[in-house]
Amino acid sequence: MVPVKIMVTAGPTREPIDPVRFISNRSTGKMGHALAAAATNRGHEVVLVSGPVSLEAVRGAVTVRVTTAAEMLAAVREHLEWCDALIMAAAVADWRPAQAKGQKLKKTEMPATLVLERTEDILDEVGSLKGKRVFVGFAAETQNVVEEALRKAGQKGVDLIVANDVSQADSGFAADTNRVTLAYPDGRSEDWPLLGKHELSLRLIKLIEALAGT
Ligand code: CTP
Repeated sequence: MVPVKIMVTAGPTREPIDPVRFISNRSTGKMGHALAAAATNRGHEVVLVSGPVSLEAVRGAVTVRVTTAAEMLAAVREHLEWCDALIMAAAVADWRPAQAKGQKLKKTEMPATLVLERTEDILDEVGSLKGKRVFVGFAAETQNVVEEALRKAGQKGVDLIVANDVSQADSGFAADTNRVTLAYPDGRSEDWPLLGKHELSLRLIKLIEALAGT
């Protein structure tokens, strides 16, 4: 097996409202960190682009810490040419406040309605640079998991979507286990059994090695 250069994104992003408040999501980064660890254990070179998480650094991986979706996009762009495979395990916030305030909003100043705008779609933004690289997306769903995974596999310019039902206690954001469905752009899907995130990561890295043709 030839070593592959793998970029993994992990964790949530935080989109500031003001210096003390933000919009984010429940991602803990466990899946992305487990993937980065599995990849380094297999002898691959790994860049881990991580949103704010409270996890130990992955030994052997180069970690780039980011906060917002815009920062994550910049880091992914910076390392894209270098990598052979991009695994987008991060739960990138889809929306951010249109105007982040420079000073803390006092409670009397807080608007009743926050005006939001879309963040950059990272997979979309770097899609034209894919070439022969393997792109893997993740999808966290609460309903119609297989249908949504197949839709995203067809639309997101990826080789594979790894989807999981985050409404299940054993498959959710903070869980140590995950039950995923793999969805391919050609319409195939495959249900994998409930696995620990480490075992799942090892299987996914081996699959990515095969997709990368090593
Ligand atoms: N993703 C991304 N940039 C974003 C949002 C998501 O690159 N701004 C990536 C995620 O890292 C993931 C994949 O796209 O690998 C699917 O993310 P998901 O949030 O499930 O997809 P969305 O396109 O946001 O779809 P929807 O909101 O319709 O579920």
